[in-house]
Amino acid sequence: MLDPASVLSDRVSAAIDAAFDLPGQDPVLRPSQFADVQANAALALAKKVGVNPREAAARILANLDLSDVGDVEVSGPGFLNITVSPEWIQRQVAVLAADPRLGVPTQPSRVIPIDYSAPNVAKEMHVGHLRTTIVGDSLARTLERLGHRVIRQNHIGDWGTPFGMLIEHYLEVGGDSPEADLLRTDPNAFYQAARAKFEADETGPDGIGWAARARERVVRLQAKDPETIQIWLGMIGHSKEYFHRIYDELAVTLTDDDLAGESMYDPMLADVCDELVAKGLAVESDGALCVFPDGFTGRDDKPLPLIVRKSDGGYGYATTDLAAIRYRVRELGADEILYVVGASQNLHFRMVYATAEAAGWLTRDDGSRVTPIHVQIGSVLGDDGKILRTRAGAPLRLAALIREGVEKAASVVDASRPDLDDVERARIARMVGVGAVKYADLSVAHDTDYVFDFDRMLALTGNTGPYLQYATARIRSIFRRADLDPAAVLAAGAPVRVAEPSERALALALLGYGAVVAEVGDQLVPHRLAGYLFELAQAFTSFYDACPVLTAEDTAVRESRLVLTAATLQVLVDGLGLLGIDAPEQM
Ligand code: ARG
Repeated sequence: MLDPASVLSDRVSAAIDAAFDLPGQDPVLRPSQFADVQANAALALAKKVGVNPREAAARILANLDLSDVGDVEVSGPGFLNITVSPEWIQRQVAVLAADPRLGVPTQPSRVIPIDYSAPNVAKEMHVGHLRTTIVGDSLARTLERLGHRVIRQNHIGDWGTPFGMLIEHYLEVGGDSPEADLLRTDPNAFYQAARAKFEADETGPDGIGWAARARERVVRLQAKDPETIQIWLGMIGHSKEYFHRIYDELAVTLTDDDLAGESMYDPMLADVCDELVAKGLAVESDGALCVFPDGFTGRDDKPLPLIVRKSDGGYGYATTDLAAIRYRVRELGADEILYVVGASQNLHFRMVYATAEAAGWLTRDDGSRVTPIHVQIGSVLGDDGKILRTRAGAPLRLAALIREGVEKAASVVDASRPDLDDVERARIARMVGVGAVKYADLSVAHDTDYVFDFDRMLALTGNTGPYLQYATARIRSIFRRADLDPAAVLAAGAPVRVAEPSERALALALLGYGAVVAEVGDQLVPHRLAGYLFELAQAFTSFYDACPVLTAEDTAVRESRLVLTAATLQVLVDGLGLLGIDAPEQM
């Protein structure tokens, strides 16, 4: 990586080893007020090596040759303050400018199934699903960029008892009816209609109640009755169309190939239960088959059950997740598994992981361990601090929400760019509206709640998607004015000179890109990338305010500044791309 901290980390560690014969020590690098980086290892090491911290720092310093990087001095109680030289920064920026990866490292490849989005067939796809979709997609893109083999797993809810009533309702309205079409346009409305019939439970001409027929239908579905399966498949088809329209509108990378819904695991559920029984982990309790994983207790310190087979013989959500985790390790060869799912399901996942661990499903043949991680997704709230709903209290329809964002963006673009034609304005409005919604989900830590506020997320100032998109459009306009292609400017590789403080700050910000992307992948924190891009855009604004680019008198200065400008554009566009956000050419 190209940033000072990453480069210096190895150097300081090596110096500690040389001074005290202690390999692999953390150099404890921190940002500093007085230098570019401060290494605080001496303070932590002093006791261990039996000298005072200043002396420890002096000995590290004696073994530290940073002549090619910059200056280093001992300060305070034993800090090593390191200031990198302009020449070093210039060389590093030249490397970045010539690197198609912009300093992003390629890590040793791991196999990482990511479970995200996972809406339910014929049920509302709500803002919660929107957020796991957006965060999961950004993690998938980022981990892929870092060199991992990401396997997207869209664990849609396409199986289980609700399908009895859904199929009965479908049969009644007929596959070609407008009611059935709701599966494609408004699945929740379809679900509600089925639910209403189930609850009204009217007795049919044959004397059988509606609810009883629905339950009978579940049995036929489980038994793979051909007619029932055909209807079920048709229904899934409709729902898939709905999901994929939303994914297309959102520019989410999920495709049909990534579907790995609950139904896929149905043939494995009996075996999962058998294996749990054989391993002595699952026991009968009140007629149901349950696992009581260690360390989970409820009220009165009673062990909490994870029900794997209900008393009526049916399997549930937990059984499916146990089959899925076993499959992901055994069949997909996972090294790590991410579950990008609402925080409210954390207990469920911890119990599933504990059960899988006890069953030995997280240990591979060679003895290595697989780590499942729940990437907890916080709630999206309305002004009232409760889960976001429509004013009438109904669950929000995602399609309507996205449309509203795009419409609001359109009114801004229509006003600001009357010179562009309708098609172009609509294209920009789509990118800005969608980008605003996505960025709002990504710019806060994934596990915190936030209040959904269109006006704030669409603002052109502050830490918003449109602000960053605007920053890229503004830079592009600089190149348009000069009739230059930013990629060609980078390819030409004019020498970079950092003389002004704002040039130096911008260059250092650019060098940090690779480390931030690595951090997002290692710690699963897309909001760090968002925060980084926001700071980079601000560093560019300060630079552009202070340093004339096209009008710089000295040609070498102009060319150097054009390289910094072009590199900023590439990093902003690339970083937004990892967040799944498109940047319009102009806005
Ligand atoms: N369909 C579920 C829901 O809407 C989410 C599934 C998450 N993934 C999983 N493997 N359980 O709440």
